[in-house]
Amino acid sequence: MKDVYILAIESSCDETSVSIVKNGRDDIATTVNSQIDVHTLYGGVVPELASRLHLENITLVIDKTLKKANMSVEDMSAIAVTYSPGLLGSLLVGLEAAKALSLVYNKPFIKVNHMMGHIAANNIGRELKYPLVSLVISGGHTDLMYMEKEGSIKYLGRTLDDAVGECFDKVARILDMPYPGGPNVEKCAENGKNVVPMPKLLEDGSLNFSFSGIKSHVNNLVHNAKQRGGSVVKEDVACSFQIAVTDSLVSKTRQAIRETGVKYLSIAGGVAASSFIREKLTKMCEEEGVKVFIPEKKYCTDNATMIGAAAYMLYKNQEFSGLDVNASSQGDL
Ligand code: KG4
Ligand code: ZN
Repeated sequence: MKDVYILAIESSCDETSVSIVKNGRDDIATTVNSQIDVHTLYGGVVPELASRLHLENITLVIDKTLKKANMSVEDMSAIAVTYSPGLLGSLLVGLEAAKALSLVYNKPFIKVNHMMGHIAANNIGRELKYPLVSLVISGGHTDLMYMEKEGSIKYLGRTLDDAVGECFDKVARILDMPYPGGPNVEKCAENGKNVVPMPKLLEDGSLNFSFSGIKSHVNNLVHNAKQRGGSVVKEDVACSFQIAVTDSLVSKTRQAIRETGVKYLSIAGGVAASSFIREKLTKMCEEEGVKVFIPEKKYCTDNATMIGAAAYMLYKNQEFSGLDVNASSQGDL
């Protein structure tokens, strides 16, 4: 087959990103325009602001990426875009830009599920092996899945309330740390000790997760200390919280590996950018004799390269979409 170049667009949350991906593996050029500086001022993503900033940036980011690659839209085999899940207004900006390119340049159009993108990030520069267990940990999801082969997904478990990244972000806020919380909690925890008792996370024998209890617990700790005119040792709370959450991720993932008998684990999503969590999951995989796939950190948080990688799987199967596709805020794989 002739080389396949896909121009991919991702705008589901607060990153405007465009990438040109060759044969689903090679990142030819990628631009990630983050809005974090703006949203930090408000303590979290403001949806109206996010869509307005996507609109201001999208054509600039497309042009910049094409220039970096020294290519034009005519050179592309297809145009791909995230259509779900995410913030509706944000998704729509990327979706309409992709539709316009597909229409004007007469290129096949590929709609990509954002979570499939996170999983496909593990194909960048190498090839995932199946059957595998996939753990997707992001600001919106905490999912354990079984994948017998590429594109086939069976849910094993998921969060019953908050997503793990969302929990990191909320705990950071409670501890007066800026958005996004994950990296800040991780940094703060480096100087802390595991001395603050945390509640046991969901231990019901299932592969589901629950993070709202620990979030409320941290909130109560801080609130009670304030009421007594004191304060908590942030570093110790961050350290104890991070360990409790990571223990839950590690033990449920270990259980999923044992129950399915797989030899491969794929980890993906923004929370997988945490060095602490990467290290603990890798150690567990060594103990279980399982090979672990984790994307480079820059491909864990939202980016369009992963969307191009996922789109290639659909391209191979000629799974193209019409231009009547709508954005959807919710969406399973
Ligand atoms: O995948 P992503 O970029 O966006 C979504 O699709 O949600 O994930 C963002 C999430 C945020 O909640 C952020 O706090 C979390 O990933 N995150 C981390 C770390 N880096 C990013 N969580 C824990 N530790 C980190 N180092
Ligand atoms: Zn994401």
